[in-house]
Amino acid sequence: MNWRRRSKNTWESEVDQSGMFLEDLARRLDTEFGVDVSKENLVEWAVTEDNAAAVRPAFLEHRTGLMVAGEESVTAVRTAVFVTDRIVKKLRSLDPCLLVTHHNFDYYEDERGFQPIRSAQIQDLLDHGHSIYVAHAGLDTHPVYGTSLALATLVGIDVKEHFYDYFGAPTALVGDAGGLEGEAFAEHVRKSLQRPKVSVDNHGARVRVVAVVAGGGDSPDFLEEAYDRGCDTILMGTLENRWAIPDMQPDHGLFLRLNDSLRLNLVGGSHFGTERPAMIRLLDFFRDMSVPCEYCEDEELLNAD
Ligand SMILES: [Fe+2]
Repeated sequence: MNWRRRSKNTWESEVDQSGMFLEDLARRLDTEFGVDVSKENLVEWAVTEDNAAAVRPAFLEHRTGLMVAGEESVTAVRTAVFVTDRIVKKLRSLDPCLLVTHHNFDYYEDERGFQPIRSAQIQDLLDHGHSIYVAHAGLDTHPVYGTSLALATLVGIDVKEHFYDYFGAPTALVGDAGGLEGEAFAEHVRKSLQRPKVSVDNHGARVRVVAVVAGGGDSPDFLEEAYDRGCDTILMGTLENRWAIPDMQPDHGLFLRLNDSLRLNLVGGSHFGTERPAMIRLLDFFRDMSVPCEYCEDEELLNAD
């Protein structure tokens, strides 16, 4: 793909630099991830009185896609799972980029969980010319860069079928893991994710047929469907749910109680840890277009206990 390029004078050096038009990149992402036809609402919970003034009116209307627009010309794309203080700080020293995030939220690996991106964080990004694009359901269900698919590929699971509808396409999958003992599989997952720990609920079965769902996965209907499809194990994001959100803990409790009777092995790699592989894999999409890109790590979330 050829990008329109434009020259840009910077007051620091007065040297011409070339960049890509933000709107071209956003349009290409809209098409690839079905954002232009998505019914997903990424305004709810994420846009608040505090940050609404910095959010694009078009995002408020379409409710997904390009959320914050910095300079109209960007020099690179950076990907991240969440927009946290670590990511904002790292971008301070970099030329204007498009930050492609899986969640248009800040995130804490404790009872706070998902939090709206603060206006101060957005302003910090805007002060340095950066923009925010959110690719959520369209990335979760993407046939190449999907979050569960990227996770399964990283762990070496042989994908057999896709299931669990999410905004019109399957977001989870069933695959063959080869028959490792439960503990050995969990350790293999931990190492693959580069995490200090994984959460494990081991019921003794060898790990052969695995349901894979990145991010969450702790819902009773998902567990039931995985069981009905013959799975002995679920590789998921949120086995340990710490969020102090009304209605969430009871649902998580139902999930755990249901598994007391279904007895699937459960391995949880954390919300961040299981969605991180997709944000790394997504770099291939930009490389194929010759767009400079890199994954922006959040070491605190990667190393959280
Ligand atoms: Fe997620």
